Amino acid sequence: MFRINENYLKLKAGYLFPEIGRRVKAFADANPEAKIIRLGIGDVTEPLPAAIVTAMHEAVDDMAKRDSFHGYGPEQGYGFLREPIAEQDYQARGVNVAADEIFISDGSKCDTGNILDILGADNVIAITDPVYPVYVDTNVMAGHTGDADKNGRYGKLVYLPVTAENNFTADLPSEPVDIIYLCYPNNPTGTVATRETLQKWVDYALENKCLIMFDAAYEAFVSDDSIPRSIFEIEGARKVAIEFRSFSKNIGFTGVRCAFTVVPKELTVTASCGTEVSLHQLWNRRQSTKFNGASYIVQKGAAAAYTPEGRQQTKALIDFYMTNAQLLVDGLTSVGITVFGGKHAPYVWLKTPNDMSSWDFFDKLLEKGHLVGTPGSGFGAAGEGYFRLSAFNSRANVETAIERFKSVVS
Ligand code: MLT
Repeated sequence: MFRINENYLKLKAGYLFPEIGRRVKAFADANPEAKIIRLGIGDVTEPLPAAIVTAMHEAVDDMAKRDSFHGYGPEQGYGFLREPIAEQDYQARGVNVAADEIFISDGSKCDTGNILDILGADNVIAITDPVYPVYVDTNVMAGHTGDADKNGRYGKLVYLPVTAENNFTADLPSEPVDIIYLCYPNNPTGTVATRETLQKWVDYALENKCLIMFDAAYEAFVSDDSIPRSIFEIEGARKVAIEFRSFSKNIGFTGVRCAFTVVPKELTVTASCGTEVSLHQLWNRRQSTKFNGASYIVQKGAAAAYTPEGRQQTKALIDFYMTNAQLLVDGLTSVGITVFGGKHAPYVWLKTPNDMSSWDFFDKLLEKGHLVGTPGSGFGAAGEGYFRLSAFNSRANVETAIERFKSVVS
């Protein structure tokens, strides 16, 4: 008799966003006249920048001709994309990352899950709470946790609360851990980490031989140069960190799919046989075996974001969403809601009014305002009493959403 991976049985009901989708569908089916505005999942709404569209059209034309047709590409990604990433995202900012340390993929969500393939099963994992649920669920699936308790917290995982009380800055773990997930600008709280905070984590990882999984999916939304955009801006990080970046939100690729992961060559670990092993080599081995690279057309589109025209258009797109975020912050603050984030990230994290539970507030907003957000408790127990609104929507929808929000809470 075959067996299943029984770790899946430990998972709580559904992944957060499909669960929200189910509830919204039930409401929409029962109230077909309701014009629901969705500020829940961070999914982009605006068309792709013109330079990217043109580059993708040209790439399709390449595929239509024998001379410029492309079959399998390099599993690590094409040089025409890896090189501008290394030059513009890192080297131009004084950060030491080489093109061959960059692995292009079809998404950061996939990479953050897939990376567990090259890591041992007995690592103790630390996550902030609230947190992007993928870090938790992929570790559950891989058997790195115990069962969930009644608050949904899994045994063996070390939870580091980030709330208004500690200014959304996690304390160092009070028990030994091996792997630490950090996400800045943060999903879901929209808050950022200072250079000092990240240095504290890198120093801790160096001292305790830990690995930092740094998710920088939202770095393009940082508008203040004193805030680090990459963990590799921090001294010592090349020895302890892997960085995940995504094209989903900054160039509108949630549906196109392209991302990259940086695994520095200095990142090594001693295997049980005593050999020093390079994580870069392991990841390269894993990707060459299980992945055939992101498509040529998609990578051509992503590369266009690094041309002068593409950079300008991408910046305009980011500015557009960040104006939405500012409107949300201002609108909510004007009716007395306590709001965090929204300055260097496209997420606004708010305290629910009158200490309502996150899911009660979700239901109230949906029923009375036909608005969808994300309950903070869906990101972890310490997110209870908070709620997330995404700034990814049209201006008209954001403006209408603010008016509806005000009338629901007033
Ligand atoms: C979110 O809403 O948290 C994101 O869209 C999830 C993701 O990027 O996978």
